[in-house]
Amino acid sequence: MPVVTFANTKGGAGKTTAVLLIATELARMGLRVAVLDADPQHWISRWHQQLGGNCPERLDVVPYVSAANLEREIKRWQPAVDLVILDLPGARSPLIAQALGHSDYVLIPAQGSAMDAQGAANVIDLLYYLEDKTCIRIPHSVVLTRINPIITTRALQGVKALLAEKRVHLLATPIIERAAFRDVFSCGETLYTMDAKTVSNLDRAQENAQLLGREVLERLKRYCDIGPALDQIAPPVRLVA
Ligand SMILES: Nc1ncnc2c1ncn2[C@@H]1O[C@H](COP(=O)(O)OP(=O)(O)OP(=O)(O)O)[C@@H](O)[C@H]1O
Ligand SMILES: [Mg+2]
Repeated sequence: MPVVTFANTKGGAGKTTAVLLIATELARMGLRVAVLDADPQHWISRWHQQLGGNCPERLDVVPYVSAANLEREIKRWQPAVDLVILDLPGARSPLIAQALGHSDYVLIPAQGSAMDAQGAANVIDLLYYLEDKTCIRIPHSVVLTRINPIITTRALQGVKALLAEKRVHLLATPIIERAAFRDVFSCGETLYTMDAKTVSNLDRAQENAQLLGREVLERLKRYCDIGPALDQIAPPVRLVA
């Protein structure tokens, strides 16, 4: 089953947050998802451990994945689930090239800043290098993160122009800067178990995550073999009014 890797060599670009949101939405849509946590900060593993009984059905998180056991864990989980997701460290490391080599689709989270764009460009260069060596083109998209829903900064415009110039695919759904996307890590909850009275704009955060999940699913259908799993997928989750 397909392997989807989240990578950006710039630390703090929003990889782990994007993994959590997308893995949760795909699991809610009916896919069986395993997240392999190769981020040395282990945020997604901690979140999963805290969730306990609140964990979405069909979502597994595998802690302590490293260069030494990556291949073994991918082989172990691929037959058991519909999708394997890799959360990588936010620094240049041999693990990135190793993980990209196993990937069917790569998502590159990037904030609207020159530093994040450079981190994204490093991953894209690595993908071109692999294509050159192996003649295998790994499809990839950038997903913009921590976007202000009201203001478009000049830096963000610059990042978008650069991606367009380099013909890099950009997901239409950005991840908006939301308190809910931060709080979800600290309280051991999901966007669907949090209390809307204490988290501002929770409904908008849910809607953002759902749109993103649907767009990623469309991409996966285009690039990867998730046909059999899709037959069992329930109709799209109704958006929050
Ligand atoms: N959409 C968002 N809204 C609000 N806060 C966000 C959002 N995305 C990320 N953050 C915050 O930004 C910080 C970095 O995010 P995250 O840990 O997801 O990045 P990362 O790329 O995985 O980092 P690392 O490279 O260290 O693994 C965290 O404090 C996170 O809560
Ligand atoms: Mg991370």
